[in-house]
Order: sequence, then structure tokens, then C-alpha cells
Amino acid sequence: MSVRTVRIAMNGVTGRMGYRQHLVRSLLALREQGGLDLGDGTSLMPEPVLVGRREHALEALARRHGLSEWTTDLDAVLADPTVEIYFDAQVTSAREEALRRAIAAGKHVYTEKPTATGLEGALELARLAQRAGVRHGVVQDKLFLPGLLKLKRLVDGGFFGRILSVRGEFGYWVFEGDWQEAQRPSWNYRAEDGGGIVMDMFPHWEYVLHNLFGRVTSVQAHVATHIPRRWDENGEPYAATADDAAYGIFELEGGIVAQINSSWAVRVHRDELVEFQVDGTEGSAVAGLRRCRAQHRSATPKPVWNPDLPATETFRDHWQEVPDNGEFDNGFKAQWELFLRHVALGSSYTWDLLAGARGVQLAELGLRSFAEGRRLTVPEPVL
Ligand SMILES: NC(=O)c1ccc[n+]([C@@H]2O[C@H](COP(=O)([O-])OP(=O)(O)OC[C@H]3O[C@@H](n4cnc5c(N)ncnc54)[C@H](O)[C@@H]3O)[C@@H](O)[C@H]2O)c1
Repeated sequence: MSVRTVRIAMNGVTGRMGYRQHLVRSLLALREQGGLDLGDGTSLMPEPVLVGRREHALEALARRHGLSEWTTDLDAVLADPTVEIYFDAQVTSAREEALRRAIAAGKHVYTEKPTATGLEGALELARLAQRAGVRHGVVQDKLFLPGLLKLKRLVDGGFFGRILSVRGEFGYWVFEGDWQEAQRPSWNYRAEDGGGIVMDMFPHWEYVLHNLFGRVTSVQAHVATHIPRRWDENGEPYAATADDAAYGIFELEGGIVAQINSSWAVRVHRDELVEFQVDGTEGSAVAGLRRCRAQHRSATPKPVWNPDLPATETFRDHWQEVPDNGEFDNGFKAQWELFLRHVALGSSYTWDLLAGARGVQLAELGLRSFAEGRRLTVPEPVL
């Protein structure tokens, strides 16, 4: 098999997502498996060029993984004609400008979400990429999770009949950082640094709802900052100015109602850190990151409300595990593979900068809905 290399500038690769999911679990994993088989006798071998602000951190990371290229000079990387793709996993506030520069330099771009901090900026990126004729993709990793793939299989197989509602519960306790270290970066809790759970999670909810059930047509959100004071990476206290919980109601095409709670101030009494329950006329399902359980109408128990007696049913026992019926790869890697095929072969790819802009739009409208205390229509974004 002949090998074709594809050089990818990876910015923000010292961060949580950039390092673990995109570098180690996706591109290095692809290299270890001998590259991506393009199906035409060619193997596409990704060659990461690490980009960031701190030279020593990049150098250490490169050494650890036997990589030879790293730089703090983004302009030089973008001017290098041998670099085909620019990837961005920086903090959200730094993304839009870097993507604009990459598109202007004629690079294909692949990026974490949210693509920008506001809808106008996100749409402008999509327009610029379209005009420049470059290929573009946005991470929509939840779609590639085993639990959601199995849920999608149920939807596609007509299991639910008419879908009535979707209820999502996402969250876990993020430590304040004083007596136990916080497990998320402190910028997430400062609005002035692009933080906030709405900007972080509503883009995910947009593509999950859209791809599985239908486009979101309206949003109403209640947003809160439950924990107003936190401690940063240096142990210094700071004011948490960004929202850390959001309670959203979304109407979808076809009249489906979705209600999703997102919170970094909730303790987990669930099987997984995110779970979606879907109820339809013919059946229901509960999907998490990995598992999916279903209950058909013919196997639905008939509870009778009587608070004077202890519950006699063990309700969870009536649910059936949806089988894997296959192997699931890491979701980030699976999406990278599709994007790389799109770049190399021109194969179709739907999760582009316009799709990314829809996520930013939903976050923006969610925040506005709370500020104005009303439900807002979500229009189709226009390029
Ligand atoms: N797809 C997902 O499931 C998912 C999950 C978490 C985060 N994200 C997104 O990934 C991006 C990175 O999040 P993370 O949790 O990896 O963050 P992080 O703080 O761990 O990493 C941020 C990276 O950006 C770099 N950076 C560039 N400019 C910076 C600046 N001015 N200040 C601080 N750091 C700067 C840092 O050096 C680091 O490499 C965010 O946009 C976030 O929304 C996506």
C-alpha cells in the first residue's frame, strides 16, 4: 500500500481535548494503525505539527510521543504550503481569529466547538471557508458515541412510533478548587474568558437533537451561576462570572419537545454522565454515552399511583439492553477519519462550519431567552 502524508497543524494541543482526544486517541492512534486506509491502495498518514504558546510544553509533549515538529509561530505554520489542515482546540475565545487566519491562508480547517463566541462570527467563518473553497469540519463527537449510535439505530428502525419527547440530563459536580482540585479549567467559569455551560453544551445539544430527531425550532432557557466563587489552577480564588447550569426547553420540527438540564453543580445519581430518555407512542429508550436500553409498549408495566404502599415494581428490570452489533471506535477518531476522507477524496461531509454555526446560534439564543425571560424562535441560519 502506498503512503500519502497529510500534515496537520494542531493548535491548543496541550489542552484537555486537544491532547487526549484529538492527538492521542485520534491522530496518534491512526498513525499506530498504519494510517487511514483510503480504499484505493493508499494509506493516509497524519503528520501532526504541534502549535501553541508555550514552547517547553510543546517540546515535552512532542518528545513523549516521538514527534519532531512543534512551534509557537502560527503564522509560519500557516505560510507553510506543505501543511494542508489547520485544527483548533484552543480556548473558545481564541478560536475565531485563528480560524479566520487559517482560512485566509487556504488551509482546510477542522475545529472544536463552539466555532465562535457569537452567531455572526460563526456564520462569517462558514462564508469565508465557502468562498475560499477550503474543506471545513466541526467536532460533533457525541453523535459517534456508542449510546447515541444505538439510539439512532432505534430511531432509524422505527422503534419509537411517533416520538413525543426527549429528556436529557447532563452534569456532574465540578469541584470548586479549594479543598479538592477542580477537574475542569477555570476559564470555563469566567464569562470574560469565553466560559459558561450554555456556550459549552448547547452546541452539543443542537447537533444531537437535530441529527437524531429534527431541527430545533424554539428555545427557552433558565440559566444560573450556582457556585459564585471558585479557585483557579494556582489555588487563587476568583469570581465565577459564567453560568454553571442551564435548564432548557427546546421545540423540534414535528412537534417533539426536548428538555435538557446541563449542570456542573449536580451530583450524579444516574448510570452515566449524560443520559437521554426518549418516549414515543410505540416505545421508549434511555441512552447514555455507551449504553442504550429500550422498552416496547407491549412490555410496558402498568404502575398505579399509591403513595401509601412501597413500590412493588423494580422498574429498571423491564428495560432491554440494545445490543452493540459491532465494534465502536473512539468517537473523536471516527469523526477525524470522516473528515480526512473528505479532505483526501472529496467524500461528503455534513458537520461543517454552517452546522457549527447552528450550535453557536442555539447557545446565543438560549442566553438571550433567559435574559429576556421568554421563549425564542430559532430561525434557519442564512449564509
Ligand atoms: N467536544 C467536546 O466534547 C469538548 C469537551 C470539552 C471542551 N471542548 C472544547 O474544546 C476547547 C478546549 O477546551 P479544553 O477543555 O481542552 O480547554 P483547556 O484549557 O484544557 O485547553 C485550552 C488550550 O488552549 C490553549 N490556549 C490558547 N490560547 C489561550 C489563552 N488565551 N488562554 C488559555 N489557554 C489558551 C491552551 O494552551 C490549551 O492548549 C474549548 O473550545 C471547548 O469548548 C469540547
